[in-house]
Amino acid sequence: MPNYTNSLWSDAVPPTTYAPLSSNLAVDVAVVGAGITGVTAARLLQSGGRRVAIIEARRVGKGETGKTTAHLTEALDTRYHTLISRFGVGGARLAAEGQRLAIDQIATLAHELQVLCDFRRVPGYLYAEKRSELAELEAEARAVEKLGLEASLTDEVPLPFPVARGLRFENQATFHPRLYLQALVEAATRDGVQLFEETQVVGIEESGGICRVNTDRGVVTAREVVVAAHVPISNRFLLHTKLAAYRTYAVAFEQPAPGADALFWDLGDPYHYTRSQKIGDRNYVVVGGDDHKVGEDEDTAIPFIHLENYVREKFGREVAATDYRWSGQIIVPVDGLPLVGRNSASTHIHVASGYAGNGMTNGTLAAMVLAEQIIHGKSRFTELLHPTRIKPLASARSFITENVDYPKHLIQDRLPYPGPEALAAIQPGEGQVVSLGGERLAIYRNANGELSALSPACTHLGCLVHWNSTEKRWDCPCHGSRFDPHGRVLNGPAMAALEAREIPDVPETEDEPRAPAMPGQEHAPTP
Ligand SMILES: Cc1cc2nc3c(=O)[nH]c(=O)nc-3n(C[C@H](O)[C@H](O)[C@H](O)COP(=O)(O)OP(=O)(O)OC[C@H]3O[C@@H](n4cnc5c(N)ncnc54)[C@H](O)[C@@H]3O)c2cc1C
Ligand code: FES
Repeated sequence: MPNYTNSLWSDAVPPTTYAPLSSNLAVDVAVVGAGITGVTAARLLQSGGRRVAIIEARRVGKGETGKTTAHLTEALDTRYHTLISRFGVGGARLAAEGQRLAIDQIATLAHELQVLCDFRRVPGYLYAEKRSELAELEAEARAVEKLGLEASLTDEVPLPFPVARGLRFENQATFHPRLYLQALVEAATRDGVQLFEETQVVGIEESGGICRVNTDRGVVTAREVVVAAHVPISNRFLLHTKLAAYRTYAVAFEQPAPGADALFWDLGDPYHYTRSQKIGDRNYVVVGGDDHKVGEDEDTAIPFIHLENYVREKFGREVAATDYRWSGQIIVPVDGLPLVGRNSASTHIHVASGYAGNGMTNGTLAAMVLAEQIIHGKSRFTELLHPTRIKPLASARSFITENVDYPKHLIQDRLPYPGPEALAAIQPGEGQVVSLGGERLAIYRNANGELSALSPACTHLGCLVHWNSTEKRWDCPCHGSRFDPHGRVLNGPAMAALEAREIPDVPETEDEPRAPAMPGQEHAPTP
């Protein structure tokens, strides 16, 4: 089977080896997560005179930042004509300004730290491949003109296949994300930020103006906490109703000659995002897309086949075979803008999430906004991005569409699962949810052929996890929690591991057990 977790950036930097937390600690600001959001926030807060500790469950860059394709752009996934209808011209203009500030912040940090991360300013093209997409492209052109962005319609789109028309954005950017993150971490820790890896946050409390960050290795007390874990793990329910987890996929193919140094986004469904990257003397075309909601594609190898076919069709058969295939999660906000600011009902716990596919810029912007709020008390983005903002009319449709999935998954979880006869078909290194001895179990077979069992109930709100065969882990379809084959949390909102279970001794066939009662039901219904 191909390696589906090999990103183009994987070999660029050796893994970091920061020690875990070994005793309780007190700091001014505790930052949870060492991706672009957490590390940028830590650097800015430390530059502002705060004592900062970063607590990372795994290793630096092991989250989504290590999987990005690093388009740094003002062209947000939610189109500006939609943002204008939801947030008005002023709100949409401020949203665009935030992206511009984030790109400039990355440029400044890369320059100050003398990071050789291949940061470069490039144009970006939103393009209509088919004439039927022209109306949407033109609506977006009118919207960005209204907002004063430097962008214009063009018939010259430097792709090796014909397109109907493009909207060219000037002065966008791109870089090598792992080299940038590594340099930022080294500078921050050299200048006093404490970084603890392999330290899992299991709870965050606030009382009397002091926050306690409980980890599996000790307690960090802090005046302020920045939750930069990609999802708001400090919030059990409310914020998750405004967010939806999607999987996105990427491949990088070596090309005989460099492609145009620009960013490209199509208007198709499923959509594609494309750019070039030179590494050493090799030229790559990097293409991403084929997104779907987490847990809704049973075979996660299929999007890779679609992407590879797409690259061969569009970029010619001479592109070499690829070893670079990877995927990750993006967290999509219902109204199109990220959630950045104080957690609901908290004064000193701050969250940042809902970046959609613009997390390199949105993560940097979130770090800037939170650092400014903590140091100076406010930011001009506070109101626009506030996590508890209510835009009921503007986003009601997408709110309902996304949130219907949580009860839908709870109901789907009650449908029959395969019984004991399925055990023999589980290959080494694979997993499946199976119905055994009256309960459903998440079964994993290790490389030696031994089976182990977990409760499949996600420790966030109880949906049943699905096996992800390309990344070899359990994914929760409701809010995107991920667990390794042994049930350990890889990413929240869940903070506790899946519970271990015994595998019962059962005959090869047995009746499907009655479904457990739904929350609020006294008895399980008869199937
Ligand atoms: C294939 C792909 C392509 C993409 N392309 C682009 C692009 O071109 N442009 C763009 O702008 N964005 C892109 N994105 C999105 C972008 O990469 C992400 O939004 C961004 O990296 C998120 O950064 P982050 O710091 O918020 O999260 P992460 O990088 O995921 O960092 C969060 C960290 O928190 C840690 N953590 C989680 N829970 C805990 C806990 N309980 N205790 C301690 N630590 C914890 C995790 O281990 C992780 O290291 C892409 C994403 C993917 C998957
Ligand atoms: S992530 Fe919410 S129930 Fe699993």
